[in-house]
Amino acid sequence: MKVLAVSAGRRMGNCEVLLRHAMRGAAEAGCEVQLIRLQDFEIKPCLGCEVCITKKVLDGGDSVCAIPESADGYSAYVKLALEADGYLLAAPCYNLTAAGRMLDMLNRQHRFLSQLKQKCREKARYAATIGVGGSDWTNFLMPILNFAATELCGSRMHLADQLLAEFHPAPGTVVLEEGLTDRAFRLGRNLAQAMLADQGRDCYLGDAEEVCPICHGSHLQLRHGRLICPTCDIAARVTEEDGALRITWEQGYDLCRWSEYGDKRHLDAIRRGHGRLREHREQVQAALEPLRGAFTPVGP
Ligand SMILES: Cc1cc2nc3c(=O)[nH]c(=O)nc-3n(C[C@H](O)[C@H](O)[C@H](O)COP(=O)(O)O)c2cc1C
Repeated sequence: MKVLAVSAGRRMGNCEVLLRHAMRGAAEAGCEVQLIRLQDFEIKPCLGCEVCITKKVLDGGDSVCAIPESADGYSAYVKLALEADGYLLAAPCYNLTAAGRMLDMLNRQHRFLSQLKQKCREKARYAATIGVGGSDWTNFLMPILNFAATELCGSRMHLADQLLAEFHPAPGTVVLEEGLTDRAFRLGRNLAQAMLADQGRDCYLGDAEEVCPICHGSHLQLRHGRLICPTCDIAARVTEEDGALRITWEQGYDLCRWSEYGDKRHLDAIRRGHGRLREHREQVQAALEPLRGAFTPVGP
């Protein structure tokens, strides 16, 4: 069983240090482990052309990318990601969310999503995540990092564990926090355990403060008059009992984003959206033409 450990942080920074402890945990449990630093791969940001999506969603073909293979290290990363059975993802918090390097990796993923999903159907993949913040301004870090992990598992919620370390702005100081490196070691072991036992959706062994039983996140969002878990898109009701908040989930896995129902709904919406341009191409072009000439973008 191969585990790919991905660091979006500094070389030997806090993410990498915790990741190395998690790798020890996974290796001692019998997994083969490999570490990559996204800094070394210099992954170019997605251009947004959607050729990967139109090829996959509308034409049912294998995904492609407009960025040539020689432009950066993305293809080398794809090869490693496809070969792995499990993932340890570690990212620093930048501006309340996961560092751009992790997001660039995630944004480019449609390039190999159909291959990845096929592999995940043959054999389930699992992931565990480590987030590090310089302070406690980390609100969106874990949901986004866990989303990246879910996408690497073929859009299946196979999160085995998660760990958030806060108040570490200087590189390497995570080693000074009592119990933290041991917790990272256990996280790696938990991932290995989920992989070796092929535990499916019930693989989670984390202990974070959490509310959602599916993604193990702690966010609620008010959307279209409903309170939802923004990661899983299921509705919740909040009541108060004896001064304590109680959250009851009104929908379960079958209606969540990761279910067959959620996947179909999402693909149908994308198909409809792209179909709209095919149907109204001339009308859209006519509306864009006068805008194009009106302002000239300033170059760098
Ligand atoms: C551009 C930038 C933005 C940052 N924004 C945040 C932030 O919003 N919240 C936070 O807690 N830490 C923030 N940090 C601090 C990093 O999360 C912290 O230094 C972390 O330990 C870096 O991980 P690394 O050592 O693995 O690179 C930021 C750091 C940088 C460079």
